Amino acid sequence: MYKFENALINGANGGLGSQFAEELIKCGASKVFVTYRSDTGAGVQSGKLAALIQNYPDRIHPIKADSTKEEGMVEIARVVGEEVSEIHFLVNCVGYLHNSDHGPEKSLRKINEEQFLEAVRVNAFPTVLLAKYFMKLMRHKKEAVFAAISARVGSIEDNRAGGWYSYRGSKAMLNMMLSNIAIEFNRSCPNVKVLALHPGTVDTNLSSPFSKNMDPDHLFTPEYSVKRMMDVIESVDKNPLGAFYAWDGERIPW
Ligand SMILES: NC(=O)c1ccc[n+]([C@@H]2O[C@H](COP(=O)([O-])OP(=O)(O)OC[C@H]3O[C@@H](n4cnc5c(N)ncnc54)[C@H](OP(=O)(O)O)[C@@H]3O)[C@@H](O)[C@H]2O)c1
Repeated sequence: MYKFENALINGANGGLGSQFAEELIKCGASKVFVTYRSDTGAGVQSGKLAALIQNYPDRIHPIKADSTKEEGMVEIARVVGEEVSEIHFLVNCVGYLHNSDHGPEKSLRKINEEQFLEAVRVNAFPTVLLAKYFMKLMRHKKEAVFAAISARVGSIEDNRAGGWYSYRGSKAMLNMMLSNIAIEFNRSCPNVKVLALHPGTVDTNLSSPFSKNMDPDHLFTPEYSVKRMMDVIESVDKNPLGAFYAWDGERIPW
């Protein structure tokens, strides 16, 4: 059973983020910092994050900030740094595929500047900021994990279907950022495993418009997906170059 003392879940309002927070609490983490950007996200609506905050006031530390902006990450680092001097588990769960203005582009005709840049900002930038502002707290003697929820569609080698330009491109960028972060962390904080994770198709806000006709056996609950990803996190060896894994332990090419 994995045991991480201090954890930071970025994007804990979301389906996967709130589940990671719950899982870390169940596994005995002493302090779980949970970030969220507004009081209206899915986790708040479903009540999961709110219930965790209410039920574990001494162990769950909510931080309201927009982690896609540098000033938001500075605030997150300030609050965490006032409470602890080490972080042992960090996962970024912020990401987006569609919003009220845009859905994934099926063809080049649908590409637009706003959506493209927003995808990079939301899907790739928070992980870079997390690495920048938390490298110091991850430099210690204990085992540690720095992970981000990527997506299989971000793998260049695995791309057979095309489409979803902004999402694919921004997840490919996220993967490259993780590969770079792994190399720098290996020099600066060699105790840290750096991982990109594919959660499978999970029943959350992000997947809901695309999962209606899916075989229910292939649509995971957040509970199932997060448990499987935690097993992967625990079982894989540290790779000094970082690595990309699916929920079932399959190694995905970058
Ligand atoms: N669900 C799947 O099938 C699936 C598959 C592959 C990869 N993933 C990846 O898993 C990660 C978590 O997604 P999820 O399934 O848990 O979806 P979700 O429930 O929609 O959660 C998405 C998270 O990202 C935050 N977010 C979205 N847009 C944002 C923005 N513009 N600025 C700041 N924060 C923003 C959300 O905050 P609010 O709660 O405030 O909106 C929420 O915390 C994402 O990176 C996604 O790409 C999911």
